[in-house]
Amino acid sequence: MPSLAYHDTAWAGGYHRHMTDTKTEPATGSRSGGSTSTTADTRPYSPGLEGVIGAESAIGLVDGANGRLLYRGYPIGELVEKGTYAAVAELLWTGEWHPDARLAPEPVPGPVLTALRELPRDASPMDALRTAVSVWGAMQRLAFPPTPEDARALTAFSPSALAAFGRLRQGLEPVQPDRSLSLAGAFLQQLNGERPDAAAAKALEAYFIVAGEHGLNASTFTARVITATRSDLASAVCGAIGALKGPLHGGAPSEVVSQLHEIGSPERAEAWIKDTLDRGERLMGFGHRVYRAYDPRAAALRKVAEGMAGMADWLSLAVKVEDIALRVLAERHPDRVLKTNVEYYTAAVLQGVGLPPELYPATFGLARHAGWTAHAIEQAGANRLIRPDMRYTGPEERHLPD
Ligand code: ACO
Repeated sequence: MPSLAYHDTAWAGGYHRHMTDTKTEPATGSRSGGSTSTTADTRPYSPGLEGVIGAESAIGLVDGANGRLLYRGYPIGELVEKGTYAAVAELLWTGEWHPDARLAPEPVPGPVLTALRELPRDASPMDALRTAVSVWGAMQRLAFPPTPEDARALTAFSPSALAAFGRLRQGLEPVQPDRSLSLAGAFLQQLNGERPDAAAAKALEAYFIVAGEHGLNASTFTARVITATRSDLASAVCGAIGALKGPLHGGAPSEVVSQLHEIGSPERAEAWIKDTLDRGERLMGFGHRVYRAYDPRAAALRKVAEGMAGMADWLSLAVKVEDIALRVLAERHPDRVLKTNVEYYTAAVLQGVGLPPELYPATFGLARHAGWTAHAIEQAGANRLIRPDMRYTGPEERHLPD
């Protein structure tokens, strides 16, 4: 099992390295091979921009120390309990709570379908989603600044496009969305060619809500950087999908699924967990770079998963394994809080609604459309080109041989 480094947050809480404007001396190297220095740059450098405040945002708060995730001030657990993805997306875009907001699934336009049909069947679903958004963007002639209207249109289109590719890769024809369903429900309907079970649609909707926004993570930052150049929303989301494709960000709830399959039964859990840790490997679905308390997204999803019919055996295994894992991790790492993270119960939900594991990362991308586009709108509203500095570490000025 790979030891996967994956973190999705950037709110490090209060620590801000100040980048000064100190100018370096201009390079004045000479042909005589003099030793003029260009390395007087002593400004602080933070690899990965860790601890650097890269934006001010009113969209979401990731409070790792206290295990809180707030969208526009509202706790994620309440939003899952009382909201829909459409209402939550509207909240992220506009800052206003409209519980009756609707986001009807959009059909896939012809040129996008043509492009998806041309892709190899074994293309990565993430590549297919990025391609679909790119073709869609070319058809829309989107202007700067991005608007909530653009965000609604893109967010309502992408699930249909991924579902269409999900069918094409199995040799099946895409089906039209049932516009009476929610976005998550219509995604399942378009994937499977039949109306989804109401509980499954509700569970996927809950996943869409918890995965909708998570601070200035790599893909969201990418969307903001692209928007800051006054580019369009589809370009920003294409870039964000590219960033999310990397395994350090896009995550692997499918690894949690394999882990639970390997464990097989609660009786085997303790021995399996101890053997895994003895080999120096990590338990998938535990630990988080930012959360030092139980991940509130995992808590919200666990509640939803518990309410899912047909999940009983698998979920009861997941719950029992979780309890044992938490106990063993606490024994092994008494000084470090290692709790369940969102991936653990994401696996329960995505497996529970019957999604093939190859679609998990791109489904995460669908859910994150709300956050990406909200950040693009916010960035455009107080825009400044994002252009950090760099410390040059290459050779001094030198010259090609005569
Ligand atoms: N299983 C076993 N031990 C762990 C785990 C784990 N899941 N997570 C951390 N540890 C241990 C490490 O071995 C290390 O022990 P040591 O100090 O004795 O060497 C200690 O805890 C600290 O580990 P770090 O890697 O410094 O912790 P960090 O906070 O940077 O890591 C991460 C966070 C990458 C998520 C880590 O916990 C991990 O690899 N988890 C498993 C993969 C996973 O579930 N990823 C999904 C994350 S969810 C999300 O990001 C949305």
